[in-house]
Amino acid sequence: MPVKAYVFDAYGTLFDVHAAIGRHRATVGPDAERFSELWRTKQLEYSWTLTLMGRYESFWTLTGQALDFAFARFPKVDRGLRASLLDAYYKLDAYPDARPALAKLKAEGCATAILSNGSTDMLTAAVKGAKLHDVLDHVLSVDAVRTFKPLPKVYDLAIDALGVKANEIAFVSSNRWDVAGAANAGLAPIWVNRGGNPDEYPGLEPVAVIRGLAEVANLSL
Ligand code: LAC
Repeated sequence: MPVKAYVFDAYGTLFDVHAAIGRHRATVGPDAERFSELWRTKQLEYSWTLTLMGRYESFWTLTGQALDFAFARFPKVDRGLRASLLDAYYKLDAYPDARPALAKLKAEGCATAILSNGSTDMLTAAVKGAKLHDVLDHVLSVDAVRTFKPLPKVYDLAIDALGVKANEIAFVSSNRWDVAGAANAGLAPIWVNRGGNPDEYPGLEPVAVIRGLAEVANLSL
């Protein structure tokens, strides 16, 4: 089944989640990398635990709660940075290969979209800040269904919005758990393994593994 649309995860795939710390690295101090990793890990953990409990809070709320946990875990990091770090997260940098990849796919006649656990306002701000609005046909937030990936009904949002079959959608994510979720929902997942991480989630495989977004448009799917 030839792919007709490319749907991208946002955080970690198009937008660099560690860019917020990157802008304040000197002020955050020597714990900057571990602080940023914990912030991201807790943000995701909260989304999954709430989902298992049948609850929902916006990803923005969870991003703030995860940041507070990181401050508590690393007391040497100045809490006065809270507002600046959240502001930076709101307008994260896109990876340099994001815009050229999206532009190439659009030029080839493919539909493009974001499907993200991020809240609508976060995604709108990030897309605007990174100037990606003209190369994206849809920006889809889980806010519409008030639950998080990797539940199948979230991936159904993309199928409904694009009006194509599940296996006609290439779902591009750097998060291996999200690749597994897309495979489970019947999409054709592409894993962007920038860091050369070991594979996981056996049985829920990507159809392709790439090292950066520049390779997306060169795949024959
Ligand atoms: C996203 C995060 C979870 O859905 O990576 O954009």
